[in-house]
Order: sequence, then structure tokens, then C-alpha cells
Amino acid sequence: MKFAAVVTLVVTLFAGAAGAENVSKPIPIGIAVAQTSNVALFGQEQMNGAKVAEKYFNISGINGTPIKLISQDTGGDEAGAINAFQNLVSKEKVVGIVGPTLSQQAFAADPVANRLKVPVIAPSNTAKGIPQIGEFVGRVSAPVAKVAPFAVTQALKLNPAIKRVAILYAQNDAFCSSETTIFQQAVKRQKLEIATLQKFMTTDTDFTTQATAVLRAKADLVIISGLAADGGNLVKQLRQLGYKGTIIGGNGFNTTNVFPVCGKNCEGILVAQAYSPLAQNPLNKAFVDEYRRTFIKDPPQFAAQSFTAIQLIVEGLRKVEIATKKKITQLDLATVRVELNKALRKGSYMTPLGEISLDAEGDINQHSFYVSKIKMDISGKVGVFAIVSVVK
Ligand code: ALA
Repeated sequence: MKFAAVVTLVVTLFAGAAGAENVSKPIPIGIAVAQTSNVALFGQEQMNGAKVAEKYFNISGINGTPIKLISQDTGGDEAGAINAFQNLVSKEKVVGIVGPTLSQQAFAADPVANRLKVPVIAPSNTAKGIPQIGEFVGRVSAPVAKVAPFAVTQALKLNPAIKRVAILYAQNDAFCSSETTIFQQAVKRQKLEIATLQKFMTTDTDFTTQATAVLRAKADLVIISGLAADGGNLVKQLRQLGYKGTIIGGNGFNTTNVFPVCGKNCEGILVAQAYSPLAQNPLNKAFVDEYRRTFIKDPPQFAAQSFTAIQLIVEGLRKVEIATKKKITQLDLATVRVELNKALRKGSYMTPLGEISLDAEGDINQHSFYVSKIKMDISGKVGVFAIVSVVK
């Protein structure tokens, strides 16, 4: 080996051993969401929101240094999420990760980042227990315990005659199992009767058994905790078999991508939401304007939440520069990850979701929520979430 090569090797080994590897420029931020599989119905909206954030925040960057999104497709399962996280942490050397899409994936992948002291901001994980995975895990997605009960209250306001409730949930998904527990508690608090409790799988396509059970139970309210493809098909088959009562869809219905799944049968589904494009604040206006320019439609909740997750990382990095009086790119990666994690939990943020903060455990404090009703147009293909109530 030539002398210069030996020197390079020694220097490289020394730098690696000392952990003194600086953050690269542009500053890499990881995004690990589902771009393939059925879960991409959520993940594509998340990528859209993150891309708008990258463009918007690069107008000034981190005091002039640009950020760069590094995306890794997680697919819809746990193995894909673990793999994406490992790549982003070890190969791409990101300062933090936004992802994964499902709580089911987060319980598997977040411990990987947590062990390696890399901050994770969950843009859509709403199951109980996500921030408790570890000190490097936070979220901007309000938990099911906070959001789901609003839909039940609203359903009763619209139809006080409701008495018998059918509850259905996907038993192979952590978020769905968590959300149904909250729905069941809310129903009992309202002194309604759970007339039937039905389970299904997120991979199911035939819901005849569950829909028949709902009709047999003479339910006048159906509450579904599923993902978009299974949940949408379940609604469609329920309506086709003749169910005429109210339907509440959980957080899995919070995507415009559910509209083509249930088509005209999506009409009237009530969904509690953590975001509205109509929210009045300057950043939401800038976000909505840019999103409309790029995608020719209003941003849905999952897009707003991933924009917000990137925003927190950007503002967190700016705080790290102030605290250390150094450019992020002059600091070593391990230090930036640890300091960023601390900074994320300090102060509040004015975001498209309104004013939010993260508590010491990394869970979100959020104040404004919405209950919307899906309205489909005459073609039965295009729809909107029409707000029926704002909860503050
Ligand atoms: N809210 C869904 C979850 O937590 C997407 O998995």
C-alpha cells in the first residue's frame, strides 16, 4: 500500500472510531414512509407533504445551508420499515427520520433508531405507546385517545336516536386495535349498546361475514378501525348489502385516496381529523397555496402532518445552531442527532396543524381538531371532507 493510501486509511479509521464524522451538506433528513403496497394510500400523501416542506424551508434553509430529503420506501410491513431505517441511519447518515407510516411498523423500526440515538418524528402513528418506545421517538400525529371520541360525540349530535353500535376493527394492526379500544370506551360513556363486535384483517377483501353480522345486529351506528383499502371496501360492501345507518371511519379514512375505494358509498362517512386546509394561520396558508400549485388539490391530513414533521426538524436544527454557535455542518453527526432530539422538545411551533409542542416524552400537544363528513360528487369518484364541527 502506498504511503498516502495508508495515511488516508488511518485518518478514516481514526475519524470513524472517534465518531467525529461531520454532517454532510446539504443536511440530509430521512423520510421513511410507504411508497408501495396498500399503505402507500397514506404514504404518497406523506411524500407530497414532505416535498412541499423541503421546497418551502429551503427558501432560507438552516441559516443558509439547504436541507435534502432522503427517502426510503418502507413498503407496508415491519421488515421494510426496519430496513429503511437502517439504511437512513447508517448509510445515508441522516440527522433525523420522519416515519414510518403505520404504528405497526413503528413498534418494530423505531427501536432501531432509538438504540442508535437518531431522532424519529412520527408523522402519522396514532396508536397508544408510540412516544414511549424511547427517548428519541416523538410524534406530530395526535393519538387516537385524543381524536377518535370527537367522531362519536358528533354522530350523536347529528342523530340523537342512535342506540345500537356495531364496532369493527382490523385485528392484525396495532393502530386499529388501539383505536377500537378508544371507540368502545367512548360508546360506553355515551351509554350506547355495542350490538356486535367484529374483527377483520387489513389484507381482507371480502367482508360479507362482518356486514351480515351488522345487519343482523340491527345497528344504527357502525364504527370502523381499518386502513384505507380494507376500510373502504368494508364500507362499500356494508352499503351494498343494505346498511343505511351512520358510519364513522377512524384515522385510516383520513385520506382522499379512500374515495376511489368506496366510491359513491363513501358518502356521509364521519371522520375526526387533526388537520383542516381551512385553518387560519400564515404557515398553513403558505402550505396550502404551495400544495395546490404543485398537486392541484387541497392537502389532506397525512400531507400536513409530514410537512409539520419536517418543519420541526428544520426549526430544531436552527435551535441547535443557536445553542452551539456553530453551523450544523461543522458539528459531528452524533452530536447533532442528540442535540436535535433535545431541541425538538423545547418551545412551541406554529404549524399547519395550529400551534403545537412536544412534551418531554415526545408526544404532541395540539389544540384544534375537526370532524368532517365525506361528500362525493355526482361521478362518485371525487370527494371532499366537509367540516361539520371544529373542536378546540
Ligand atoms: N394512524 C395510522 C397508524 O398509526 C396510520 O398506523
